[in-house]
Amino acid sequence: MHVSFNLTADLEAALKAAAVAAGLEAEGFAPEVRTADSRHGDFQANGVLGYAKARKLNPRAVAAQLTAALPGEISAAYEVVIAGPGFINFTVKPATLLMWLKAHASREALAAAAAATSRFRGQTWVVDYSAPNTAKQMHVGHLRSAVIGEAICRLLAFSGRKVVRDNHIGDWGTQFGKLIWAYKRQLDTIELARDPLEEFERLYKAGNTAAESDVVVMDEARAELVKLQAGDAENLGIWKKINDVSLAAFQQIYDRLGIRFDCTLGESFYNDKVAQIYAELTRCGLAVESQGALVVFHPGHPRFKEQPFIIRKSDGAANYASSDLATILYRTDHFKAEGVIYVVDSRQRDHFEQLFLTAGEWFQRTTRKLPALHHVDFGTVLGENGKPLKTRDGENIRLKDLLTEATDRAYTLVGEKNPELPEAERRAIAAIVGIGSVQYADLSQNRSSDYLFAWDKMISLEGNTAAYLLYAVARIHSIFRKQGLVPGAPETEAVADALSTPAELALARKLVKFSDAVDLAVSQLRPHFLCLYLYELAGEFSTFYSADKVIVEEPAVRARRLLLCARTLLVLETGLQLLGLQTLTRM
Ligand code: ARG
Repeated sequence: MHVSFNLTADLEAALKAAAVAAGLEAEGFAPEVRTADSRHGDFQANGVLGYAKARKLNPRAVAAQLTAALPGEISAAYEVVIAGPGFINFTVKPATLLMWLKAHASREALAAAAAATSRFRGQTWVVDYSAPNTAKQMHVGHLRSAVIGEAICRLLAFSGRKVVRDNHIGDWGTQFGKLIWAYKRQLDTIELARDPLEEFERLYKAGNTAAESDVVVMDEARAELVKLQAGDAENLGIWKKINDVSLAAFQQIYDRLGIRFDCTLGESFYNDKVAQIYAELTRCGLAVESQGALVVFHPGHPRFKEQPFIIRKSDGAANYASSDLATILYRTDHFKAEGVIYVVDSRQRDHFEQLFLTAGEWFQRTTRKLPALHHVDFGTVLGENGKPLKTRDGENIRLKDLLTEATDRAYTLVGEKNPELPEAERRAIAAIVGIGSVQYADLSQNRSSDYLFAWDKMISLEGNTAAYLLYAVARIHSIFRKQGLVPGAPETEAVADALSTPAELALARKLVKFSDAVDLAVSQLRPHFLCLYLYELAGEFSTFYSADKVIVEEPAVRARRLLLCARTLLVLETGLQLLGLQTLTRM
């Protein structure tokens, strides 16, 4: 008997084969296998109803034809029942559960199995995330794109895709005019040496204030920008320095969040690539001149037929839209991307809608194949007052300060839980718990909603939190540590016999649904589905652990329970790692 990683996919394939064997119109039949409410078994196929209805057939009769034609492997591995108006319910047999658990004994085995059964295998996807603007510190508003984007990258890679992580930084904005103006006049070299990014921020503010109150300064700042854009060596030098410093500061944040980009191709990278965009879009009749600007209208769209997509400003300069169009072409030609995901907050929804519509038309008119384009949007991080999270005096909270506070708060929690651990170890644990708590609080919410940033809820051992899950992981490690065993060692598991108690079976049933949780998170591009699964799995483990003693005399029982502990550990660790968290062996 063969049991693959993805039981849902196994059942889908078996039902399709059965449809052919039973002489159904197989093309028109989608089995629609889903994980089921536990009262109805583990999985249920809903597709018979729609199929029968469309053909005015009796659904129960069709279900009976199908189940009779199921391959022998399936009836050996599952209890199959026709229920209600024509659902087919599948309950995994204990021996099958054991087989699944034995077959997926290591992270490598899980990853290989997940990639092998994925329909995305081998595709290249570019993920565009984080993407802050340079010359400024990253603040709390930059948290979500980085955290959600990284989790999505890891999920896509796990499901067999080749992922290109691209940081599309804003390194060519109009902010540089004022900044260079102030740099040339008010630079404090001591501050520059101490904390350069801080100094650039101060200079930008100084330049901005000066320009606002004095038109002469405004004109001078504009002239600095024009010089920069024309390639003036001095201004380019200052610009480059600012960007280098910014990137180094961003990298410190990325290191703490476990993020490593494959490339950082910001807006400036596309400077010499926008002319082709203007030419092509004009030539194919998509872009037109309007009041000096080059724009694209979408006559079929309710809003964008009047509100055009401006792809070149009236002063001739490129903008956000021009570089984004050039970016799509580059990603298609250079990376051969089959999909591109933009992890950017919901306020840019119109931009991406117009961008995707424009790219779609343009690629069609130039007979190119458009990659799948997805805007993975998200809501705002709110403070306790329900407004966007800020410091008490209304400033943006710097991301580095936020992460440090998380680590400090977690240090208190670790000290309460485990005061006897050496100081250095408590610090190391606190860094993982603190940062993980911030990541997890963000990921465990449906990304489309705003979420309330509440330290006490987020750094807590209770509820759907990082600390709860990290603690569950550490606790399973300690079970093995106390016995002098290594989790997942084949000699420990060899004599395991079939699972039998209700708690054992319930835990195993949850474990074999890991692939469904990953699939859901990947297909919806919503990591919270995986968070919820891990939280439920940890709960199922707790129930098992208090119901069934693990370290018992009988070798076969002890072995099968240790097997369950080891696989729970493996799935929890793999899942948390897919979300971008680091895990612990003690806490
Ligand atoms: N730098 C932009 C911002 O801060 C985000 C860029 C997102 N990516 C893109 N290809 N437009 O709003």
